[in-house]
Amino acid sequence: MKKSMRGPFLFILGVTFSGFLFSIHYTRDRDYDDPISIPVANVPNQRLNPKNPLSRVISSTGIEIVPPPPAPEDFGNCGCKSEKTGKTYNFCYTDPQNSTSIGKKFSCDHLKILEKLNLVENPGPFVDLSDTEKNSKEIVFVSAVSDNHFNEATTSISAFFKFNPNGKFILYSLGLNELYINNVKKDFKNLEVREFDTTGYPDYTRTWMEYRFKPLILAEVMKEFSNIWWMDAHIVVKKPKMIELLYKGLAENVKSEVPIYFLFIQAIPILPHYVLTYFPTNSIDLLKNEKRGFQLGANTFFVARTEYTVEVFKWWILCALDKTCMAPPGAQVYCKFGKDRNNEFAKCFRFDQSILNLLLLNNYQDANKYLINIGYLF
Ligand SMILES: *[C@@H]1O[C@H](CO)[C@@H](O)[C@H](O)[C@H]1NC(C)=O
Repeated sequence: MKKSMRGPFLFILGVTFSGFLFSIHYTRDRDYDDPISIPVANVPNQRLNPKNPLSRVISSTGIEIVPPPPAPEDFGNCGCKSEKTGKTYNFCYTDPQNSTSIGKKFSCDHLKILEKLNLVENPGPFVDLSDTEKNSKEIVFVSAVSDNHFNEATTSISAFFKFNPNGKFILYSLGLNELYINNVKKDFKNLEVREFDTTGYPDYTRTWMEYRFKPLILAEVMKEFSNIWWMDAHIVVKKPKMIELLYKGLAENVKSEVPIYFLFIQAIPILPHYVLTYFPTNSIDLLKNEKRGFQLGANTFFVARTEYTVEVFKWWILCALDKTCMAPPGAQVYCKFGKDRNNEFAKCFRFDQSILNLLLLNNYQDANKYLINIGYLF
């Protein structure tokens, strides 16, 4: 595990996109779904989902995006009806680039959880991305750790408080030993420690290696906080001004109204077929395009609570709650790159990160739009 985490970490220091380090190690060899190659359609007039508040966005070609006709209220076979409110919600993802490209339906069992997490009817308040001063005061840092990564987490938290002595940091315990919890509370007075309570979530959300906890914790935190910076437990900040630099990057992008930003790049271009049955996409070729694509690393990233974020989180959480969407058969963090890294499935998968990246790329069609590259800070 340690080695796998070191890959993206060293990569940041390397400033170069090539020479990715994961190829060296892999442990298991099981059966994998074949990679899928979907031809990229030439659609200058990008269309977005009717429910998608991004419909104001102008496409990269400068043509205003025309929303497709609204779907019927019951969403046909894709609808899930709330026992609580009687309202029906759409549980089939539609490729924002192609309104007839519709994914497999997620289980309606998960609707109760979405309701609890405020992901189907979120009344706001939402973030005004242009209000940098207010946002930078409200930002909260969030991480999660289990016993086996405890030492890395203390290094990470210690570095954080060194540069941000008054920062707000919430550490979620993934079943941490009480001794560890007491120690970390003693060492960092401004640190808030919370237990990640999986009651009500499927049992497999406790398989930490599948990283389902990350979207779930973020959704829980988003009920309370509107500016959130996630840090994986091994991320260690090495330079000052991380908050200033983030909001400087946001201010430069503010017109695009992008509310979720990845903070550095890693490249794992091919997704297992299973994921794409839920999330059909036109963007596979973009993942291989060095100028617009990349699969960005979401081991540290920023989220602002906006209507669009709530929509993305709905699908991200549905995937996390599904047995195979977030952990397709054979998924593992170690990659095995073949001769052609763009066309041979490297048998690795970044779980939560791969899904979030796909959802954003499907919308924005260019990874640069949701990248603030401050990887050099870590
Ligand atoms: C849109 O999706 C449908 C269904 O998957 C597919 O048949 C069609 O070719 C796609 N259109 C474009 C322009 O990619």
